[in-house]
Amino acid sequence: MVLALKYRPKRFEEIIGQDAIVKTLTNSLDKNRLAHAYLFSGLRGAGKTTTARIFAKALQCENGPTSNPCEKCENCVMANENRHIDIIEMDAASNRKIEDIRELIEHTKYKPSVGKYKIFIIDEVHMLTNEAFNALLKTLEEPPEYVKFIMATTDPLKLPATILSRVQHFRFNKIKNSIIENYLIKILAIENVEFDEEALRLIIKSAKGSVRDSLTLLDQAIAFSKGRIDLDSVVEMLGVINPEIINEIFEAVKSGDKKRIKEIIEEIKDYDIESIIDEVIIYLKDALFEGSLPLITVQRFFNIVADVKELIKYNTDNEFVLTLMFFRMTEAMKPHKIDDLIKSFEKKIDIETYKPQKEPKILKKTPEDMFKELIVKIKEKDIDLGVCFETSVKFISFENGVLTWESCPDEMCKEQFKRYFSPVIRPLINEIFGIGTKIEPIRCEKKNEMLEVKKTEKRESSILQDKSEEVINKVREIFGSDVKIEKIVHK
Ligand SMILES: Nc1ncnc2c1ncn2[C@@H]1O[C@H](COP(=O)(O)OP(=O)(O)OP(=O)(O)O)[C@@H](O)[C@H]1O
Ligand SMILES: [Mg+2]
Ligand SMILES: [Zn+2]
Repeated sequence: MVLALKYRPKRFEEIIGQDAIVKTLTNSLDKNRLAHAYLFSGLRGAGKTTTARIFAKALQCENGPTSNPCEKCENCVMANENRHIDIIEMDAASNRKIEDIRELIEHTKYKPSVGKYKIFIIDEVHMLTNEAFNALLKTLEEPPEYVKFIMATTDPLKLPATILSRVQHFRFNKIKNSIIENYLIKILAIENVEFDEEALRLIIKSAKGSVRDSLTLLDQAIAFSKGRIDLDSVVEMLGVINPEIINEIFEAVKSGDKKRIKEIIEEIKDYDIESIIDEVIIYLKDALFEGSLPLITVQRFFNIVADVKELIKYNTDNEFVLTLMFFRMTEAMKPHKIDDLIKSFEKKIDIETYKPQKEPKILKKTPEDMFKELIVKIKEKDIDLGVCFETSVKFISFENGVLTWESCPDEMCKEQFKRYFSPVIRPLINEIFGIGTKIEPIRCEKKNEMLEVKKTEKRESSILQDKSEEVINKVREIFGSDVKIEKIVHK
């Protein structure tokens, strides 16, 4: 037996999620303030027919009308077995003509045979033809006192106003997922079936507030999954998109990973686009309530979804719509990214200001300045060594990590250099010009420093006289392009 029939409530207290309706009906039974005609409208599988039958039994019970029928008397037993002679169920979908209603009206003329009332339950009442409605009107307004009508419909808007104004109307709501969940968990415990919560939630979500649909899907899932109801089998059975995929795609959106977004779209593009968008909306609602996305982002995303929903109307292909939606969301994340960037810049600047400013200074310095600094630092370590260095070593160039100098030390300085080059001078060169700086010393030919200088100048003047482009370029390469070659004085 299918679950929906096996677990069809027999008593008011077993009806779930329709508390207000149950309360009003039980009160009216207990106070004996009954209407002639009732209309139960609302979602399919939310308890209309079930409630109508329980209400009919509650009227017919020997102790009735009572909200607490005895379940033992002949009336209760027959009602529970759906064979009470004075409870007449009619399906208006297949008996919609005026003749059908005329027959029904004939019935109302005979008193109940065993029960207190003659009760007509007319299901799908909106299916009746206009003539049938008109034929029903008079009886509905002034039925014999032993007659009760309970009409049910999923579509009350299709009923003529003349009917609506003659009935007491109860609107059956969608039932909350959490209420259905608790209900199904109880049933699964009785049925001794194991399940994963996610799988159950997915079933309930697909049933969209209908208890019957939830139970029907649960039946299928039990048959489908053999043993334990798990998410994978339910996903497969329902042909729905796995909610985990939606989480994944939003992770990709958050990290701006368009490649991953495309991969996921490739996986899901064959699903019904509307159901994908439903999932997206559910994700965004959760994110909003959980605070896992900033309000402004959720708002932007909802706007994007609304735009995309428009597109679907034009029959655009799914892949395009999905790509557009998720790429736009990725773009919509960007303002936050820019904020992050600004923050990271601020951090960098912070680090810069607190750092010893060696490197940036060096960068701005000319090689000549660096050479002067080297002299100063050597002097700081050892004044004699520094003076030797200053008087006998002349800076030539510093290019591509090669420091070229000309050195003409006297014997004493030569001695100093030998001893202190490695422990003092080399580390300072590393510090100022960079580790790995190569040193290219040009040997001094003359002992006399002054002579040497003169010679250099002569050499420069001859270069000038030569005026060969090539040589000038070479000079510029060494001394820098703004070197003023014309101003060199010949001695
Ligand atoms: N509120 C409810 N509480 C408990 N079970 C319910 C409820 N509503 C529906 N069901 C379950 O769903 C089955 C169908 O319910 P019912 O026939 O009352 O729905 P309905 O509202 O008349 O639907 P329809 O509009 O399709 O006729 C029931 O047998 C019962 O198992
Ligand atoms: Mg029904
Ligand atoms: Zn009874």
